[in-house]
Amino acid sequence: MECLTVREARLPAAVGREVILRGWVRTRRDSKGGFSFLELNDGSCLGNIQVIVPGELPNYDSEIRQLTTGCSIQVEGLIQASPGEKQAVEVLASRIVVFGWASPETYLLQKKRHSYEFLRTIAHLRPRTNSFGAVMRVRNTVARSIHEFFQEEGFLYIHTPIITASDCEGAGAMFRVTTLDPQANPPPKAEDDFFGKPTYLTVSGQLEAEVFACSLGKVYTFGPTFRAENSNTTRHLAEFWMVEPEAAFFDLAANMDLAERFLKRILRDVLERCSEDMEFFARWVEPSAITTLEHVLQEDFIRLSYTEAIDILARSGQNFEFPVEWGRDLQAEHERYLTETHFHKPVILTDYPRTIKPFYMRLNDDERTVRAMDVLLPRVGEIIGGSQREERLDVLTQRMQEQGLRMEDYWWYLDLRRYGTVPHSGFGLGLERAVQFITGMGNIRDVIPFPRTPGSAEF
Ligand code: 4AD
Ligand code: MG
Repeated sequence: MECLTVREARLPAAVGREVILRGWVRTRRDSKGGFSFLELNDGSCLGNIQVIVPGELPNYDSEIRQLTTGCSIQVEGLIQASPGEKQAVEVLASRIVVFGWASPETYLLQKKRHSYEFLRTIAHLRPRTNSFGAVMRVRNTVARSIHEFFQEEGFLYIHTPIITASDCEGAGAMFRVTTLDPQANPPPKAEDDFFGKPTYLTVSGQLEAEVFACSLGKVYTFGPTFRAENSNTTRHLAEFWMVEPEAAFFDLAANMDLAERFLKRILRDVLERCSEDMEFFARWVEPSAITTLEHVLQEDFIRLSYTEAIDILARSGQNFEFPVEWGRDLQAEHERYLTETHFHKPVILTDYPRTIKPFYMRLNDDERTVRAMDVLLPRVGEIIGGSQREERLDVLTQRMQEQGLRMEDYWWYLDLRRYGTVPHSGFGLGLERAVQFITGMGNIRDVIPFPRTPGSAEF
């Protein structure tokens, strides 16, 4: 007898085979005819498989009729075509072993629908729900597509460090990493710390990725990043995953082409590989989940400058909460207006004011704007941020001074401009923003296994 997942067992090819299935009971229903139906789920796919348990099984009364939602079991039996309308196949059990019980008095995941807020308080159990299981399968597919896409495009996967001494985004929103005792008396000195200087959790692998792009050509890094900003929104996490390609000899146009191709590839793969999960999201979470992806796949992304966008927003007649004014950063409401209401398609905004973007972005000839690009999508707003990088040593030095950065901390980054400097570009895609967009889930905390947000790191 071979062991199958529920996903494999539900394929028509499995009919007629004697198999072993293992998973968790979703429901049990006893029939008057002296047998029972179980719905079994093992997370390999959204759907359950129906198990028919004959009353003749030796543990039928002692165990099978005690099974409740959440119990874990092994089923041995024959897969047969189902006469029922709800499923194509079912399993006729010849033996059932119970691994673990789940008391219905205390097991919190009963059949009823729970709110996402409640499920967050039991993050160790929520992967057993339909919605979170579907999210995690989509997330896995996105991660797989990310690697496939960049590998096929000839990018090398570089593992950039998590502990760093430099602030990539220059925003100062970093978590300190230290082994010093903050209560020590006299107060500890930074040079006595583990690394001999202050260190932090990285906010981005970009600066290190640039090192490798400026030697290996096309690279990408993909890992956890950390931001200590106190933003309690539905789009922000303190710990999130970011994929960051970086390519030598790419200008901004090549960078935008890459970003558009990349996003479309991910969406296409999810529609193809996660159709059952996507239908679930369209039915229960966001009616336009599938049609939005199809729409984005068909459209060419609009490309326009920040200055043009400000113009459109200023003349929109909308009552925005945050003011629209050249030189101010755009808020989610502005981004969403552009992509949802004005253009009805994805938008890539370029050439932002130098004052609101990090030091590493290439200065334009107008000296007021930099070669930035943000990709905006309906519902989530900014999903990708990137730029062409400043490759001129003198301009970069000046920009760093302007933003108050300590030059000696970045000597190695500046060396890339001293020796064989090249034009290069890159961007970062937030994995959770991507999964949020694809699934239509309203809160970013519901698309990551264990969300870290201000005041919350229980699990
Ligand atoms: O725009 P950001 O800050 O850009 C960078 O970090 C660059 N160094 C990337 C690069 O050019 N290599 O962040 C990039 C993306 C955002 O567009 C967003 O999708 C996501 O990362 N992101 C967050 N996701 C969840 N929670 C947060 N707090 C996020 N901050 C950024
Ligand atoms: Mg950004």
